[in-house]
This record gives sequence, C-alpha cells and structure tokens, in this order.
Amino acid sequence: MSRYVTTPIFYVNAAPHLGHAYTVIASDVFARHWRQRGEDVFFLTGTDEHGEPVALAAEKLGMTPKALADQNAVHFQTLGPRLGASEDFFIRTSDPRHVERVQEILTRVKDNGFVAEGTYEGWYCPRCADFKTESEIVDGNRCPIHKIELTREQEQNWFFKLSEFEDRLKALFDGQPDFVLPQRFANEARAFIDRGLHDVSLSRSKLTWGVPVPWDPEQVFYVWWDALLNYVTALSFAREGEDLTDRFWPATFQVIGKDILKFHAIYWPALLMAAGLEVPRHILIHGFLLMKDASGEETKMSKSLGNVLDPFEIIDQYGSDALRFYLLREVSFGQDGGVSVDGFVTRYESELANEFGNLASRSIAMVRRYLGGELPAGVAADPAITAELDPIAATVAEHIDAGAPSAALDAVWQGVRRLNRYVEESAPWTLSKDDAKRAELETVLVTLIAGVRSTAVLLHPFIPVAVEKLLAALGTPDVSLDGATVGAVPVSAVEELAPLFPKAS
Ligand code: MSP
Repeated sequence: MSRYVTTPIFYVNAAPHLGHAYTVIASDVFARHWRQRGEDVFFLTGTDEHGEPVALAAEKLGMTPKALADQNAVHFQTLGPRLGASEDFFIRTSDPRHVERVQEILTRVKDNGFVAEGTYEGWYCPRCADFKTESEIVDGNRCPIHKIELTREQEQNWFFKLSEFEDRLKALFDGQPDFVLPQRFANEARAFIDRGLHDVSLSRSKLTWGVPVPWDPEQVFYVWWDALLNYVTALSFAREGEDLTDRFWPATFQVIGKDILKFHAIYWPALLMAAGLEVPRHILIHGFLLMKDASGEETKMSKSLGNVLDPFEIIDQYGSDALRFYLLREVSFGQDGGVSVDGFVTRYESELANEFGNLASRSIAMVRRYLGGELPAGVAADPAITAELDPIAATVAEHIDAGAPSAALDAVWQGVRRLNRYVEESAPWTLSKDDAKRAELETVLVTLIAGVRSTAVLLHPFIPVAVEKLLAALGTPDVSLDGATVGAVPVSAVEELAPLFPKAS
C-alpha cells in the first residue's frame, strides 16, 4: 500500500524553531512506522518561499527575496537530518518546476470556470498572509494570532470561487467523517463552512515575489494557493525522470498545526476539486506547543512572540532521540501542551535513561555476567510476558493509522514498564546464585532480551538512533514490524552496550 505523508512547508523568513521541529518529528514517526510495515512510503517537507512575509523580511535586510530564501532554506533543509527525520524530498516553492506546475494547475482551475475578476477590500495580516473576515479579527483591527494591527487592503484581483464549493465541501465532511482528524477540528472546519463561504483572492497585484499569473502577468498568485499546491507538484519532479503523482496522491496524512486549519481543511480540498484532483485522505491537526512566559502564563511558542525553546540546543546536548521522545510523550498529539526545559530533563532522566536505557543496559549486562554473553538456543520466553507484550504491535499500528502517535508511544511504554517490573519480580541476580535455578535464570534472561528487542523495534520510529545501537548490540538489526513480537527473531549473543541515554555533562 502506498502512504504519503507531508508537513506544512515553512516560511523561510525565520529560523526553524521547536514548533516546526514538532510537526516534522510527528510526520517522521508515521513515515518510519509505515516503512517498518513494508509499505511504499513518501515523506515530503519543504519551504514556502513566496509572498509578503519573505518579501518584507528581505526588504528589511536589503536583500532580494530569492537571496534571503536561498540563505534561510538551508536552515530548514538541515532541520530534518538534525532531527533524525527521514524525508524523501524537500521542496522549495521557488523551484521553477514547482512554479510551472502551479501555473498549469491554476490555469486549469480558471478553464474549469472557478476564477473570476473582482475587487478585494478588507483586512489583511501580512504575517499570516491571510485575509481576515470581520469575525476573525480582535481588539478592533488586530490579528488574532500575531496581535499586530491589520492592514486595510483594496485591490483588483483574480478570485477563486470558493463560495461555489459550499455544498461539495459539506458532502466531503459528511461522506469522509475522518477527513480532518482529530474530530473536533473537523467540527471547527464544518462550522466555518456552515457560516457561509466567500470567494477568496487567487492573486495579488501589489506583490512581485510570487508565481506570475500566466493570463495576467501584472499579478502573482496569492501565496497560499502556490504553497498548498506543493503537496501535489513535488510528486511530479521529486524523482528525476519519474512522475510519482499516481503512485502517492492522494496523500495519506497531511500533518499541520491548528493555526492553518482553514487553509488545509477548506481552501485546499476546494482547490483540488476545482482542479479535478482527488482530496487527501486525512488532514491531521496537532495543537500548539506552549511555553510559560515571564508572568507564568502559557502562550504559543513562536518566533514573533520571542519565547522560543531552541531544538538545536537540546539536540546538541542530548541528541535527536531525546527531543523526539519528549515532544511526543509530553504533548498528547492533537492537544495543546506545555513544554519546558525542566520537564524535558525530568522525562529524559526518568523515562529514557532510567526506564528504557537502563533496562536495555541491565539486561545485556546480566546476560554477559551470568551467561557469558550467550543465550541458549531453544529456550522459550515466559509465556505470560509474551502474552502481554505481543498485542502491543497491533495496538501501535492502529494508533498510528488513526493519527495518534502519542497513544502509540504510550502503548509501547506500557511494555517497557512491564519489563521493568519483570526484572524486579524475577530477580535474576538471586537466581544466578543458585545452580539449581539455572534453567529459570535462562528463561528470565531470554524473556528479557526478547522483550527488550521487540519493544525496541516498536520504538524505532520514535527514537531511531538509540534503537539502532541497541539492536546492533543484540545482533538483530532488522526493524521490520514482523519482528516486533517477543519470539519473532531469536537473539543468540549480546555485545556490550554503552549507555543509550547518558547523563548530560
Ligand atoms: N507557510 C505556511 C504553511 C504553508 S503549508 C502549504 C506556514 N508556515 S509556518 O512556518 O508558519 O509554519 C506553521 C506550522 O509550523 C504550523 O502549522 C505547525 O505545523 C508548526 N508550528 C509553528 N509554531 C508552532 C507551535 N508553537 N506549536 C506547534 N506547532 C507549531 O504557516
């Protein structure tokens, strides 16, 4: 089965921060998990380079928008690898191949009768690059997200006839109730449609940094249309000489933060329908990472609010696995969640280092000490433990398919905790003192190592670096999900393992 997972493409006017990292990490977990199941996976991320925010930032710096985009795109291109993310392609919307495809698709939308000329007059937030309706603005004329004063815009534009899609969008939400996940965001989008849809600008006349409108070169396409289309255009040129569109479109999961719900749950499917393309299977929404500000209030972490926890500092000190684990464990996916350095350190020490890292090290150390590093062939694992651990793989797969990576991680963690209790209950250090208990000791250690191995396979999408080290020490590097049951892949010998999650110096 083919699976296509995307992240939003990020504005190049700022440096990557923890919020961007969070989306990329979650998306990567889906991609890695599906690869473990042997599925045909494509994972896309990239940068959104056109439009006012970039043009304004470049102007301030006295650079051309393209030069700024080239400079900043690099930070996002290195974000994935630093997070241990496994994207298959990184799209930049300034890529001429994207530009050409956008022009082609939007011309088709016009030919299909969904474009009209009109005058726009209303409020506009240059940071969101969004036209705000009266019901969306706060404190007179401020942006509800950025709190900055909105500008009053009046211009002659081409419009996308969004209003004509009201019924079709309602039918989409009725017929595909899990189109937007989690459900409450589907309700939110549905309520937006029920309030009535207005046509939206398809082009802007006052900007030059964008994709030129082929039938009116004085205008460029409004950046959101150009940006949304990346999810489709990328497939046509990501692989030299190959068009992957039929293989991967429609996307399985389009992962986004809740700030851009309207664009993805309403504008995007309408645009696809207008272009005669299929809509994605699921738009998967996550909440905001919140940080405490000076007054102790939790606020959305964002560059413009100046309260950023630097993912790169954490990675430099603790590694990418630690960041990945923390964000998915601390914040229930789909909800807003507070993050903090203290919370990070606590989870790192108590869960990663202690519950998992130590379990692995101890188990290996005991096999080395009591059995000379070798596990006897033909000794079956304790059936009680096998019965508890084996169903976890299916639970994980279900949660992942339902877009719930935190729930998947929690299911595996129950297994980790079960194994810790098993060590305490079976006390191999006591058994080792009694020759008559040799068979029992062997069963316990076989069970432990087999349990650790199967749990590690399930944790691979979350903490790939540590899992690969651990599986190498067990001599069983394969991470396919078929091997995620206790007895699936026998371990015959173990090698010394350095602490997976050392204390930070
Ligand atoms: N360029 C547009 C998206 C176009 S997609 C066709 C954009 N870019 S952005 O750089 O502002 O990135 C927004 C996304 O970054 C959010 O949807 C979310 O995925 C992520 N996050 C940014 N700040 C975040 C938090 N504080 N918390 C969680 N995610 C956040 O919008």
